[in-house]
Amino acid sequence: MAVERTLSIIKPDATRRNLTGKINAKFEEAGLRIIAQKRIQLTKAQAGEFYKVHAERPFYDELCEFMASEPVVVQVLEGEGAIAKNREVMGATNPADAAEGTIRAEFAESVGENSVHGSDAPETAAEEIAYYFSGLELVG
Ligand code: PPS
Repeated sequence: MAVERTLSIIKPDATRRNLTGKINAKFEEAGLRIIAQKRIQLTKAQAGEFYKVHAERPFYDELCEFMASEPVVVQVLEGEGAIAKNREVMGATNPADAAEGTIRAEFAESVGENSVHGSDAPETAAEEIAYYFSGLELVG
């Protein structure tokens, strides 16, 4: 399986509850390597640009407000099949549907405040990584 990179975000509900280390441990236990990571405060406009694919959905404004409400940790995860593996470790978007042992099953509070974001495909992973990181920041 090919080595991939994927964009991960530890969302405000998780940074607020000091869960960054516990979430990172889940990634590392699954064989994903954190090759870049930084804590940033998004503006609502920056969150809106990142989530623009959802601009027409009813929760868009709430999602952007939430992502700008407190700092987030943005990170790049690397490993074999990293995009699918990360989504497996995260669990379903709605924590009520998330499999036992996944990040969202253990930590998420709701479908919106669901602790983590992960890219869903190679093209979006490349775009999302470039939104937050320069090539010089990626040390594989
Ligand atoms: S998915 O996995 O992309 O199919 O999930 P989807 O349901 O399309 O949700 C996309 C992102 O929107 C967030 N979301 C919400 N935020 C606030 N309120 C409500 N009701 C809500 N429903 C979905 C969801 O957490 C997804 O965020 P990301 O960061 O992309 O995982």
